[in-house]
Amino acid sequence: MTPELRAFGEVDRRIQLFWRPGVRANLVDGRVVVEFANVRIRFPDQVTPFETLFRQLETGLPRSELVSTVQSGDSQVSIELLAAIDGLSRRGLLEHAVLTSGGAELLRFLPQMPSFALGQRWLSPDARLTLSSFALVRRVGGGLLLESPLSDAAVRLTAAALPLLGVLDGRPAREVAAAVGDDLAACLPLLLDAQLLVSGASEQGGLTGHEGVSLGTWDFHDLLFHARSRGGRHAYASGAVYGREAVATEPVAHKTLPAGERFAMPPPSALPPVKLGQVLRDRHSIREHDDADPITLTEVATVLHHAIQPSARSSRPYPSGGGLYEQEIYLCVRACAGLPRGFYYYDSRGMNLVRLPASDDDMNGIMGSARASLDAKAPPQVVVSIAARFALVGWRYRSIAYATMLRNAGALYQTFYLVAQALGLAACGIGNGDIDRFQRITGQSFLEEGTVGEFALGRRP
Ligand SMILES: Cc1cc2nc3c(=O)[nH]c(=O)nc-3n(C[C@H](O)[C@H](O)[C@H](O)COP(=O)(O)O)c2cc1C
Repeated sequence: MTPELRAFGEVDRRIQLFWRPGVRANLVDGRVVVEFANVRIRFPDQVTPFETLFRQLETGLPRSELVSTVQSGDSQVSIELLAAIDGLSRRGLLEHAVLTSGGAELLRFLPQMPSFALGQRWLSPDARLTLSSFALVRRVGGGLLLESPLSDAAVRLTAAALPLLGVLDGRPAREVAAAVGDDLAACLPLLLDAQLLVSGASEQGGLTGHEGVSLGTWDFHDLLFHARSRGGRHAYASGAVYGREAVATEPVAHKTLPAGERFAMPPPSALPPVKLGQVLRDRHSIREHDDADPITLTEVATVLHHAIQPSARSSRPYPSGGGLYEQEIYLCVRACAGLPRGFYYYDSRGMNLVRLPASDDDMNGIMGSARASLDAKAPPQVVVSIAARFALVGWRYRSIAYATMLRNAGALYQTFYLVAQALGLAACGIGNGDIDRFQRITGQSFLEEGTVGEFALGRRP
């Protein structure tokens, strides 16, 4: 092993601990209290040693000097100080900077999970090193952040650390070390231990996997989305926050009605007096429609009415995470008695349809893609698109906004299915839609409103 690769002792002397930005340590009622978001930790009443230690975290507390720093006449106090540092680190309140031998910051580990402990994994100089295919680098604040849903830490890279990224291409560790120099080479075992680097077999092929589990069925974005939209694997703000720094005002609850020809919806029919149990037992997906007898506008109005219109006790018949009802409904109509072929916005408050100017190309595109998804002989009579106004939920929630919108789409899918079943209509979910086409037809940025699900509706064959 090259000296660089077993130089952890040297790295250890170059690690400094800092407060995570936003952490406050104050004196409250004679105790030192550390606060961050909804975390509040009160420390024992020996104020001075805690204050002294915590002040050093503002400018950098050398980890190798931790033990000598906390040494005091009272060994119990020393133990409590060490336990405090360990606890703060496990709660993600400390950052671990690695400095060059000259004392400049190279990179900084930002703990994301309680399991994080800066350690090194043994690294053979012959091991081929690559950046994890689940890792990403992005600009956050003033710096670049390297992170991965497989890692219990994110790493802030300084400019001095960037050469590393260019050589993590599967070459042996000793060549990586030679290319980046001693300071960075000594970080390799740390990055490997944090699962930001991979050594040996291909991670994507599932040969390496993660803790013995294959990664073969995970796409990069799916794993990132899963790990970020659930708790447990990240230290980002999550849940209801009611506002974002970059957004001055709360988005309006109701969408401005788009311009276009209006079609009044006929009065809906009542739901037949069917038993819920029977509807649930009978419900199934039907992918073909009877074009000799297309669905009628009244039937479409009836489905929308019973699935979308406010009920006696709620804004809509189905539940919605956040209660914001961010969903908007659009219809792409190929065959419907009483309604010309076209693309429509459902104005749920006015109970109108507003026709939007979709080109033949776009109409055929939606229908062709739906037909292919359903593997049906002909396109559906109606494709119902469930769109979401993203800002409405994103303003309220951090980390979970999009996941919430997908769950809400699921609640609506089932409601559509049950109403269609009760009415004896053909219904089937569609798993794919084109958000760029939707943007083109509606003239709304895909960042503001976009489809999150589609549904085929028509007459049963
Ligand atoms: C969100 C969602 C997306 C779906 N996407 C498709 C699809 O793209 N093509 C298709 O043929 N069926 C699709 N389906 C229907 C499922 O294939 C169907 O529900 C499943 O096979 C169970 O059959 P059942 O609905 O008859 O009980 C979808 C269903 C849901 C809920």
